[in-house]
Amino acid sequence: MSITNLLDLQTKVRGPNPRIARWAAAQGMVLLENRNKVLPIVSPKIALFGGGACSTVKGGTGSGNATTPYEVSVYQGLLNAGFTVTSAAWLEDYEAKFMKLQEEDTGISPLDKFFSGIKTEMPDPALTERDITEASDADTAIYVISRVAGEGKDRVAEEGDYYLTEVEKENLRLIAAGFKKSIVVLNTSVIDTKFFHEIEELDALLLMSLAGMEGGNALADVLSGEVTPSGKLTDTWAVNYSDYPASPTFGTNAGDGKQVNYEEGIYVGYRYFDTFHIKPAYEFGFGMSYTDFEIEVKAVTVDSENVSVQATVKNTGSKYSGKEVVQIYASAPKGKLDKPYQVLAGFGKTDELEPGKSQTLSITFPVSEMASYSEALAAWVLEAGDYLLRVGNSSRNTKVAAVIRLDESKITEQLSNMLPLDQNFTDKSGGEIISCSDAAEVAQIAAAPMLDLKAASIMTKDNASKIDGNSVTTYLTEGSEYLSKYKPGTERANRNYIEKFEYVPPCENAKLYDVYRGKITMEQFVAQMDLKTLATLVNGSFGQSNHRVEAADPIENAKEAKAFSSGSTVSNFIKSHGIPNTLLCDGPAGIHVMLLSTIKAFLSQNPETADTEVEFDSMSEAGYTAFPVGVLLAQTWDTELMTEVGKAFGKELLDNHTTVLLAPGLNIHRDPLCGRNFEYYSEDPKLTGIMGSMFVLGEQSHPGIGVSIKHFAANNQETERSGGNSSVSERALREIYLKGFEITVKSAQPMTVMTSYNKINGIQTSGSYDLCTHILRGEWGFQGYVMTDWFTVSDNGQDMHAGNDVIMGGNDISKIINAVNALMPEFMSDGSISCRTTPSYVGVGGTVIENWNSFLPQANGRDTCTAIVASEIETGEKVQEMVDRKIAAVKVNEDGSKTVTYKGTYTPAYITLGDVQKSAMNLLNVLLKSWTVNLVYNASTGYEPIEVKPYSSLFEDLKSYLMVEKR
Ligand code: BGC
Repeated sequence: MSITNLLDLQTKVRGPNPRIARWAAAQGMVLLENRNKVLPIVSPKIALFGGGACSTVKGGTGSGNATTPYEVSVYQGLLNAGFTVTSAAWLEDYEAKFMKLQEEDTGISPLDKFFSGIKTEMPDPALTERDITEASDADTAIYVISRVAGEGKDRVAEEGDYYLTEVEKENLRLIAAGFKKSIVVLNTSVIDTKFFHEIEELDALLLMSLAGMEGGNALADVLSGEVTPSGKLTDTWAVNYSDYPASPTFGTNAGDGKQVNYEEGIYVGYRYFDTFHIKPAYEFGFGMSYTDFEIEVKAVTVDSENVSVQATVKNTGSKYSGKEVVQIYASAPKGKLDKPYQVLAGFGKTDELEPGKSQTLSITFPVSEMASYSEALAAWVLEAGDYLLRVGNSSRNTKVAAVIRLDESKITEQLSNMLPLDQNFTDKSGGEIISCSDAAEVAQIAAAPMLDLKAASIMTKDNASKIDGNSVTTYLTEGSEYLSKYKPGTERANRNYIEKFEYVPPCENAKLYDVYRGKITMEQFVAQMDLKTLATLVNGSFGQSNHRVEAADPIENAKEAKAFSSGSTVSNFIKSHGIPNTLLCDGPAGIHVMLLSTIKAFLSQNPETADTEVEFDSMSEAGYTAFPVGVLLAQTWDTELMTEVGKAFGKELLDNHTTVLLAPGLNIHRDPLCGRNFEYYSEDPKLTGIMGSMFVLGEQSHPGIGVSIKHFAANNQETERSGGNSSVSERALREIYLKGFEITVKSAQPMTVMTSYNKINGIQTSGSYDLCTHILRGEWGFQGYVMTDWFTVSDNGQDMHAGNDVIMGGNDISKIINAVNALMPEFMSDGSISCRTTPSYVGVGGTVIENWNSFLPQANGRDTCTAIVASEIETGEKVQEMVDRKIAAVKVNEDGSKTVTYKGTYTPAYITLGDVQKSAMNLLNVLLKSWTVNLVYNASTGYEPIEVKPYSSLFEDLKSYLMVEKR
């Protein structure tokens, strides 16, 4: 797109969100090197090179791609900021080649291209001496290295991805030699940075990250000194990829990727590097500024509940204002449990401080945040001994500010072990907590104040799940025939819980509104729904986009909607039951919808729909904002900023009639090569949880909308993401992989949770009662509904029992019906199995399903079922196929009729009606709080609008994890 067009489009975008995106982007960029203080750039002329200069990557690909009307490249951003770019010839030539490549490459499907944002990659071409000479009117050169990553594919430790290519390195050598000052901008996630030290004349290294649609402008803000960088890394950047503790087992490094043993246990990121004395290239929490700061700890206090650190931060520089992040790490004593060297316990970011100015931060966190999870006790425990509090501005630049001496060990929270390891390995252990040879550390400890903490004063909370997992209640309308159809003992033999029954008064033709008004109970409301209705309700849908559409007709919807979101809850029961449907929209970095072009491409692929006329508003008018990706937002370490971005995002969702944002992604960066790390925040769970909570509180501050935190849990690679098994110890789960979710659930009460595609310790996450019910609801108090990730291969019946309430993006409802009722196969009159077609996606590609129901045809099956074919009818071709496959046998009866006997395995019903009712109730309770609820009732019936409140404010409790006061 030409620059003039870009500017035109930018001006069309109304509202403050692009500015918020730009501000957030600049706040999360991290300055890694700044030799000779070449940054900020003072000269007005710049030579700009590298593929990322023009084809700047705004975010990742896949569902996390954001739909946006424009993207500001680095080149454009520098021009906008008033720089003269001396390498225009090279840039324009690059851009032309890049565009041509995109046009000519027809190998990318419309879905990948338009929805997932996948482009054909063009490796950086070699620079020539001439390119350098032509641009030599500038004394400063910038080289932008970019990398794309996304859903469905992990990154690789190869040149062109984790490593620079030889051409890139040579190009850097040329610019380092050809210009007085040379700056490398990383438009990437973690990469190998050895090149920076190998090429000596390079001066600065700036992590731009994937900065959203305003990325180029934000980068210019930082390069020019308009904004002083204050971002800090949320991951350890290792010297070598092999230094990462998960690298031996990540992806296919230890097999086919289907079984991954998290052998490093709790030693993820800096917990590993610090404990096992591995020097990183750039440590967790690191980030430079244009100015200097001094952090002075004024006081540390501890009581039975909280630790408080008061630290004064002073800008000791003379030229630039800036912000600093105070980071507090706690080192727990080694007792029965192995301990990491330190863990992040609290942090706070100052306001912008002018040179010479200071600000005092009071950072408070609960004592219990220093506890470790003991599998032996099934509890979080503070072991007796000395706890060191380290305060500084990165994980490796701290001073011991206090020693808290705990007299005896104390359980802070009693739980039950829930997710036992299924593989035979023991977690890594045996690191050294304090290096006694480090004289400076020993001296700091000796000089630090000693604070006494009495174990007896600390409370033990009993938070073990109190949910009764041994029974499920089925609600029956008085006079219901359900019990007479149900034969106890036989067809439900393989359930390990009992079905209780409760009768409720009938409420025919009731609407969800009647529940709100208290005329009927929710139990009554679901008791009068038949199984088919319930199963339809708890299946979401993909491709419905308009709240008011009664029929689930994708083409009708396509005509009416602006664009397609990733999914919705169903619209089938708007009229009959007054149940609103809600749109669910990706993703972490901005509204992600299907564009007109994609839908047209889909429709045109199918002869039946090729001529469909679809009218849409111009998407370029839509004004969606591509915010910076999750990891950049987290790199701000700015909790207030997270809330602001959450609010801005939420407003856009409401404006676009969406209810649920499928974000934030709270998975942990176990390894830098996970393809979706850009969507997630950090290797550290506390930072993840706090930043996630603040975003959610912001987003959910708008009435009637919410988020879906995802992917719950231990979804740490894209290789074999569907059904792959993550084997993780309970301790590592509790301390690392669940912790961010736990903080966010407890402190921000997200409207929904999305389970992941993978298994944990052999059990599908969506089918895990322990995860979805005991931990999420029983221990953490989650109140919303749980949905599967899209088209998961899980057992949907089991999902219902486990507490995964909604199957996204909608599956064959018979899976749930069969799980409750064990239906027999349905045959055609010719003895062959009957078929039906599932609803299709945008009118194309509905799946044909054979109605075998609870019978799985198999040649070696132990059960049989039969179809009778009347004498005047021939058995069909499909029957013959089954005979050939030795699954069916045909016998001619005396009266000329034929009996077709199929062999196979019959699966008895294995869940109860109550399981599905429970899921429906969880969903309906949330729908009642959605803003769409008022759309479905007609004012002429005398209905008074339902009062819709912000979902989060009902629950807010972040104070239990972190409190920061500024003075
Ligand atoms: C992704 C989710 C996403 C969903 C809907 C899935 O493939 O894993 O993160 O929210 O699709 O687009």
